[in-house]
Amino acid sequence: MRTGIIAFVAFALLIFTVKGSAQEERAATDTTNHYLMPVPQSVRFQPGRLIIDSSFKVAVKGHSDARLKSAIERAVRRLEGRTGLEFARGFVDDSNAATLVVQCQSAGKAIPSLDEDESYSIEVSPKQTLLNAPTVVGAIRGLETFLQLIEGDREGYFIPLASIQDRPRFRWRGLLIDACRHWEPVEVIKRNLDGMAAVKLNVLHWHLTEDQGFRVESRRFPKLHQMGSDGLYYTQDDVREVIAYARERGIRVIPEFDMPGHATSWFVGYPEIASAPGPYQIERHFGIFDPTMDPTREETYKLLDGFLGEMAQLFPDEYMHIGGDENNGKQWNQNPKIQEFMKSKGLKDNHALQAYFNQRVSAILKKHEKKMVGWDEILHPDLPNDIVIQSWRGQASLAEGAKKGYNGILSFGYYLDYIFPAAYHYAVDPIAADSNLTAQETARILGGEACMWGEYVNPETIDSRIWPRLAAIAERLWSPRSVTDADDMYRRLAIVSVRLEELGLKHESHVDRMLRRIAQTHQVAPLRMLVDIVEPVKVYNRGQAHPTTQMTPLTRLVDAARPDARAARPFSKMVDAMLSDAPRFEIHRDSLRRTLAEWRDARLALDVIIARSPILNEAAQLPKDLSDIATAGLEAISYLSSGIAPPQNWRDAKLALLDEAAKPKAEVQIVIVPALRQLIIAAAELPALKTMPPTDWAKRVRELAAPKRAEVN
Ligand code: ACM
Repeated sequence: MRTGIIAFVAFALLIFTVKGSAQEERAATDTTNHYLMPVPQSVRFQPGRLIIDSSFKVAVKGHSDARLKSAIERAVRRLEGRTGLEFARGFVDDSNAATLVVQCQSAGKAIPSLDEDESYSIEVSPKQTLLNAPTVVGAIRGLETFLQLIEGDREGYFIPLASIQDRPRFRWRGLLIDACRHWEPVEVIKRNLDGMAAVKLNVLHWHLTEDQGFRVESRRFPKLHQMGSDGLYYTQDDVREVIAYARERGIRVIPEFDMPGHATSWFVGYPEIASAPGPYQIERHFGIFDPTMDPTREETYKLLDGFLGEMAQLFPDEYMHIGGDENNGKQWNQNPKIQEFMKSKGLKDNHALQAYFNQRVSAILKKHEKKMVGWDEILHPDLPNDIVIQSWRGQASLAEGAKKGYNGILSFGYYLDYIFPAAYHYAVDPIAADSNLTAQETARILGGEACMWGEYVNPETIDSRIWPRLAAIAERLWSPRSVTDADDMYRRLAIVSVRLEELGLKHESHVDRMLRRIAQTHQVAPLRMLVDIVEPVKVYNRGQAHPTTQMTPLTRLVDAARPDARAARPFSKMVDAMLSDAPRFEIHRDSLRRTLAEWRDARLALDVIIARSPILNEAAQLPKDLSDIATAGLEAISYLSSGIAPPQNWRDAKLALLDEAAKPKAEVQIVIVPALRQLIIAAAELPALKTMPPTDWAKRVRELAAPKRAEVN
């Protein structure tokens, strides 16, 4: 199997790299030789190693408490699992006898907070690793780095000698999980908290209410969860369990109760707080809907006061998120009483009415000792400036808030449900490169949050939409701004992704499991090959060809496809290498030929699987497309190899073929098309290319292929 061979070669290369790196002296701030993610503020490697074997022992020095000890225990169990070594349980008193010494100065904040000191340092000597941290959360961050330092070679497991000083660039580094569009049970939340801790994220933004579901138990207003959730909600005990679990990992939990829009599920039980008479049902479709709270009725604020007060007791974080996004205002426009109210208060438009509503909610939150977080739309001069604006609209919107004195976090560019590759998110910085903010204004940008909106994810697929891409965003929010090399990020991400599986995350195992169900057989290798070259359609194009509601199964080919098609990037690199590395042209050519021949020849096996799997009917065209474009790529390579240019009309015919193949089918796109386009253009431009040095070919071909590539993406 080709994929088997690729995996083996990649594995051999990894072993070779790891082995080589340990023997050689590493450059002081070399990021090309480790698998740390996020990259620390400062890393220095020295020659030599600390051996990890069954004599591994841990000592705790300085401050110690149950949270620290259980974090160490968890780390040690993971180390055991990874190495297969069995270590003594518990801790040793004599730190000289320990392989890992954790020296912590204080407990830190009792409840994880924005002001937590998360810094730590690590010194690895041939005798032991010393992890030093001012707080327990700092030590928890350092333990994750420690686990990422483990390498192996023929002599066994070891840690390279290193000196690390680390602290986050941003204080607020979060993940939003929408548990409303689709229900996500506690175990899903917990395993994702583990993943978050592994990449040093510190905020779970729990989106708990929506048109499609009210997901938290309210004892004061039980019709909220009883009538608004299909019985799928978190009990208050569940919530406490999740908060405790997050605290153990140094993660804050901020609930979002979206209002006044995105609120249909509230009105199923309490239609009297809506702006139009009921009855209401839980919304099953996705989009922006009319039902909106009535901001003119005191009953609305009475309910909100009671409910938010109850939630303020349940959630210990000092912040509470009130949403505020995408209120279409239709119910307000159509309600004469609301129009009358606006006139009487001098509120000139719906934005002003929403600002009035937000001020009332802000006062309620203040009474319950919470600070407000909301989406861009809540920005209004009448709100106090201890609120935090979460920007889904962009850096400019965030900067505007910062200029007006508001703290903010960026989510624009970090929407995981857009299904963009990791490199896209990685390139987005909370502070624009051309930012004209003063130092004081810049300090108001607290960080960012990735958003996992739930329309197209369920407990089975959610991990695969969060991971491993979230690790790249986590690095953006933790590491120095200068850490931006996407190739190096992908090199490390491949290993990080495998390590994340230790925590029970299912993003890696998800693909084959889903393909087996689709094909009803273990023989899924041809389908895997197809999945490796396609990606789900991007942004909100999903759901157009195949209308989807909360009730629609998420078990199609598109649900198995990864946001970063596994074969696309390596293929593109191979094409680049062949076009730019003339001395080794034949080596690159031959490996490209093998890959393309496998894609071309997969058609028969794929046709057989599709014929007996009606769920794949929608994908029937893909094997032919793949075979045709792979054949075109092989022809291009033959021309390039022989030095003979193709006939005049060949180029246009092949590019037309690629354009057809690039069109989404079954809500996936073949993403090897841009690299194939380069091959076709290189062959067609052969006479022109021959007049320039071979080192310039790849660049020239990229230029020629670029406009079309933009269309495809
Ligand atoms: C949002 O995407 N409406 C926050």
